[in-house]
Parts: sequence; C-alpha cells; structure tokens
Amino acid sequence: MQFHGSHILSVEQFGLTDLSVLFQNAAKLEPVARGELACNVLDGALLGNLFFEPSTRTRMSFDAAFCRLGGRVCDTTGFQFSSMAKGESNHDASRVISGYVDIMVVRHPQMGSVKEFADASLVPVINAGDGPGEHPSQALLDLYTMLKELKRDLTTINGLRVAMVGDLRFGRTVHSLAKLLSLFKGIHFHLVSPAELRMPADIVDFLRARGHTVKETTDLIAGVANCEVIYATRIQEERFESVDEAQRFKGSYAINRAFFDHYCDPKAILMHPLPRDNRSESCELNNDLNNHSQLAIFRQTDNGIVVRMAMFALVMGMQDQIDASLRPVGFKKKLIAV
Ligand code: CP
Repeated sequence: MQFHGSHILSVEQFGLTDLSVLFQNAAKLEPVARGELACNVLDGALLGNLFFEPSTRTRMSFDAAFCRLGGRVCDTTGFQFSSMAKGESNHDASRVISGYVDIMVVRHPQMGSVKEFADASLVPVINAGDGPGEHPSQALLDLYTMLKELKRDLTTINGLRVAMVGDLRFGRTVHSLAKLLSLFKGIHFHLVSPAELRMPADIVDFLRARGHTVKETTDLIAGVANCEVIYATRIQEERFESVDEAQRFKGSYAINRAFFDHYCDPKAILMHPLPRDNRSESCELNNDLNNHSQLAIFRQTDNGIVVRMAMFALVMGMQDQIDASLRPVGFKKKLIAV
C-alpha cells in the first residue's frame, strides 16, 4: 500500500512489505518513545483525536505518539461533549473536523462508522476501533510485540502456534490480529471461547481459505497446549444486550500462575490487548502473574507508542526525515523500578 495520505481502516490493507517498512520505522523510533531522543518531524501538524467510546491506551498512546513526533493534538471524547449529541451525522462531523486538523484518529461504537468518517474527510483517518469490527493499530502492535518477544522476524514467524482466548465474537482486536497473521504461512490458530462467543464464521473461513489450521474449542486446557502465544481477551460486556448476559461468561477462561505453570509451555508468552478485567469474577489474566517473565502485556502496551509513531510518520509522508530530525533531549528521565 501507499501509506502517505491513506486512511488506515483495516489490516486487510497491509502486505508483508508494508509491515516491514512500518516495523523498521517503529524500531528506529524506540529511543524517542523512551524519551531518550527527541524528534520533530510532525512540527506544525495537528491531530484530531476523536473517541466516542471509552479508551485509555489507544487514545493516550496515539496522543503521546503524535506529541513525541513534535505535533500537537486536539481531541473530543464521548458523544455528550460533541454536537453528535444534537443529531449531527458522522459525515458532517468528519467533514467539519477534517477542515481543522491534518489527520484524524477515530474510535466509535458502530462497525463501519470509521469508514463513514473517512469517506467524508479531507485528511487521512486512522481506525482506532469501530465497534466489534476492527482495531488495526492494535493488531500491528500485537504482531510487533510477538516478533520481539519470540525473537523472530517477518520471515521466521511462519508456523506460529497461537491461542486466542475469551470473547472472540465481539473482540475486535482478535478479528484484526487473526487477519493480520493470515499474511504468513501455516499459522495454527487455537480459538478458545464459549460456543456463543466464537470467532465470526467469515473470519474462520478466511483463515482456512488461506491454508491455516484453525481449531475451535471450548476447552482452555486443550486450547493452550503447545502454543507459543496465548492471547487472552476480556468479555466485551458493552456489546451485550445486558450486563447480566455478559456476566455468565466472566471467569470462564481465567488464567493464573498455577494454571500457566501446569498447562502452558513455559516459553509461551501471555498477551492481552487490555484492559483486562481485574474484578475477582473475571480475572482473565490474574494479578498473581504480574511479575511473571512470560507476561508481556505491559511491554505490549509500550510497543503501542512506537507502532503508532511509525504509522503517523508514514501516513504524513515524513519517514525519510526521521534520521535527520533526531536530537538529544534537554532533560534526564529517570525510571523508577517497580
Ligand atoms: N487495547 C485497547 O484498545 O485499549 P483501550 O480501550 O484502553 O484503548
């Protein structure tokens, strides 16, 4: 694909060459994300960060990524603080805001809504999650994390054994990640979910049509066996008819340290898009794993910054200026050990 000036709405836009370009730029930007170097390739640029659904990671990391590259951000969160509460359409909101900014990031609860924003926008739009549809930047940072954690690259990830666990029906991160992994060869997908929350059939068919092995099961122990990556997800209660309906699935697939030590490959990495549901009835990844070396969830969130910085640099056409723009920072950041 051509990144410069393009909307990023789905992982289906990417090929292996695009991932290579994106990840090379992300790796280059790691010292900037850590605050060790400064970069100003987006000096003068303005991001519109529009979140009509709750978010911590995606909203703040897109914001931080743009600022780390020297740009500035204006944002809106929730329908109640925008004129959409007065009945304004996605089309009108997008056309208006795209006249104020140079690029937009949009999260919205309805599948397909971010494409509506893109269709009306004067500037590139990045999908930050459209209901149960897609979450492409999450899938990109997930793949970047897998490569780093497993010490593999885009040529050696073929044959990966990955378990996706939990709410595979409404979890947009696994929809995007499964489709992104389908670019490789011979991936073994272990899809572990309650029968009611299975991966949508069109995605399962898509994976099988590309020659991958897909095993669907309700049995967590069988599902995680021999997997190199265990990707847990939260029950997406906000997408159910009622909280009570979601409640009956919570805790079905709780993984704690004892479970990991007993049933998982000791070299397997534990991932989760977060937020995990830390309430006692849920605990898809228990707090007793917090200091476990194989728990990659916070390294995964850290990777979100560099991947999103690389997306911005490429979509704004500034990737060739990164090297010349790197500068020492005027402060000494001191990390506190936890
Ligand atoms: N992973 C993710 O999308 O997290 P947020 O909902 O906090 O953005």
